[in-house]
Amino acid sequence: MQNSYKRVDAHLSSLGYCSRSEAKKFLKMFKVSIDDVRVFDVTKKAYHNDISVENEPLDAESLLLLMNKPSSVICSHDDAGVLIYSLLPQRFQRRNPKISTIGRLDADTTGAILLTDDGALNHKLTSPKSDVSKVYEATLAQPLKGDEVEIFASGELLLHGEKKPLLPAKMEVLSPTHVRLEISEGRYHQVKRMFGAMGNRVTALHRVSFGEFSVENLETGEYKVIDFTQNAQEGKYIT
Ligand code: URA
Repeated sequence: MQNSYKRVDAHLSSLGYCSRSEAKKFLKMFKVSIDDVRVFDVTKKAYHNDISVENEPLDAESLLLLMNKPSSVICSHDDAGVLIYSLLPQRFQRRNPKISTIGRLDADTTGAILLTDDGALNHKLTSPKSDVSKVYEATLAQPLKGDEVEIFASGELLLHGEKKPLLPAKMEVLSPTHVRLEISEGRYHQVKRMFGAMGNRVTALHRVSFGEFSVENLETGEYKVIDFTQNAQEGKYIT
């Protein structure tokens, strides 16, 4: 578990409480304590775990969040439009290193998206070697033809412009125009392109879960902090 030792102003600014130049004012306005003793000296060094703000421990040094992404918000730091990060508290938005989504969902896709400021975790879960299961529910423009389950499970489906076939995917038919699809890859627009390859079109896409994390109990636009340190202590991030 991280527990870095540095100046109070460095802790506060990297966790987004205030900028480094605002730290002096912040310590006057808010009760910042080291081992329960209030401090006013921004240069004082301390371990992260020994600092509190208004009697609350500091936010974790590494964050992992699960959000139920609404439609129309964008998983990007610099595109035009409403960015997913604008749904997070200001303090999280100001963190350095920045919080980024783990992979992306299209603007019109809703559902489970993880966000973290842990670059190694992000890299691990977005690497082509990562085989985290992702479950989607898709609504289709046309009724299914009947051979989609078999074709998706075959491990032989080649998407337009690609040389490597998709890994087998599991599809459950919920109605003639509504399916649940489990995939372990994360290729560009994968689900939409899979149905495109079947001569169909996805009209609505919702990701129910990413690995063990499901948004079934989260309202649209709501997020929760995942106890990342617990996972790290157990030697795993996501199974
Ligand atoms: N597949 C897609 O086509 N879009 C997404 O947003 C996610 C998976």
